[in-house]
Amino acid sequence: MVIADIASLVDTERGLISPRIFNERGIYQQELEQIFARCWLFLCHESQIAQPGDFFTTYMGEDPVIVARDKSGKVNAFLNLCAHRGNRVCRADSGNASSFICSYHGWTYGTDGKLIGVPNLQDAYYNELDTRNLGMAPVAQLDSYKGLIFATFDPDAPPLLDYLGGMTWYLDTFFDRQEGGIEVIGGVHKWVLPSNWKLPAENFGGDAYHVPWSHVSAINTNFSVGVTAQPSSSGQMVSLGNGHGLIAVGPNDVPDPPVAVIREYEAQIRPKVVDRLGERFNRLNPIVGTVFPNFSFLRASSRVFRVWQPKGPDKIEIWSWLFVDKAAPAEVKEALRLSRIRGFSPSGTFEQDDMDNWQQCSQTPRGVIARRRQLNYQQGLGREGYDEELKAWTSDFKYSDSNHRQFYRRWGQMMAARNWSEL
Ligand code: FES
Ligand code: FE
Repeated sequence: MVIADIASLVDTERGLISPRIFNERGIYQQELEQIFARCWLFLCHESQIAQPGDFFTTYMGEDPVIVARDKSGKVNAFLNLCAHRGNRVCRADSGNASSFICSYHGWTYGTDGKLIGVPNLQDAYYNELDTRNLGMAPVAQLDSYKGLIFATFDPDAPPLLDYLGGMTWYLDTFFDRQEGGIEVIGGVHKWVLPSNWKLPAENFGGDAYHVPWSHVSAINTNFSVGVTAQPSSSGQMVSLGNGHGLIAVGPNDVPDPPVAVIREYEAQIRPKVVDRLGERFNRLNPIVGTVFPNFSFLRASSRVFRVWQPKGPDKIEIWSWLFVDKAAPAEVKEALRLSRIRGFSPSGTFEQDDMDNWQQCSQTPRGVIARRRQLNYQQGLGREGYDEELKAWTSDFKYSDSNHRQFYRRWGQMMAARNWSEL
């Protein structure tokens, strides 16, 4: 495989990025191999496959994957590909099954992915088929953190906890605020967007700057708040290494939508949440972030987490779920559901602003001259540093490209490194 000249594409020391990384086929193919086939990728939340036999189908990069809980309760994940002719074995989005049967010739796989049935095994294959090695290919490693199930196809990838590193506490501020954690309610919103996957990933991971401008109409309707648009100097970018980043507002900034039942609930649980998360939560309030490469989550306006499924250099499928504190009262969950539809859904007020910009940022620089430009990621360059207390790289101001630079720094390292030990 030819390694593109990564240094000519991303110069994070000077804050310059080539627009080629947002629409070039060869670079995208290299991302699938160097990033998506090696990193830990988010699959689903445990509440989505709570019972034995429950399964959920998703993607790791462009590889289709089944995540299933087997009879013993163990979670397995494997390539959704029949070892016979490569057919997609499971066509459903989710459900409960005792086995998976291929529609072409009837090979049958267990909920652990092993091949358990082959028509005419005795008379046509003379019982000579190596069925033990013909299961659906399992992922190399699977693990979960606070109910979030991740997997990697790379046996040499570091353990999940090392990969997440300092991000774990920040994940707690979304997914473990109360006893019992969160649950996913309702279905998944899936829609296609003509955008490169990195644009939404960098946006959720650190773009507070666009909020008062892109979303001004949505904010003025008062459907939702744009907390980073408020004229306060609190808040900063937080980067935890490995490309993970978050936007945090100040402890007194209110990111919740202007809906009484939600605000009352948040005010009421806050002392307990601080007890649970510790003093750091009195210093900053993380509201939106990205686990590298393509898992993002949001706790402003509503509660969503999402995967930016890559489908080509300038195409993604957005998969978005609503999550709520499991312990929250039913009326709070319902209010958050409505708030999510208003703000962050295919027709959401905020979502439409973002989608249009990401689409144009992917497609506009396709021209010969445009591809020679370097895009500017210099906001706050040099006005950032390592914060010992937060154990993170942080910006000096609430608006900064400091997380973007860390994201693309990691992107460049992953694209160039031949193996994990080089990273
Ligand atoms: Fe699956 Fe033939 S392709 S059984
Ligand atoms: Fe936005």
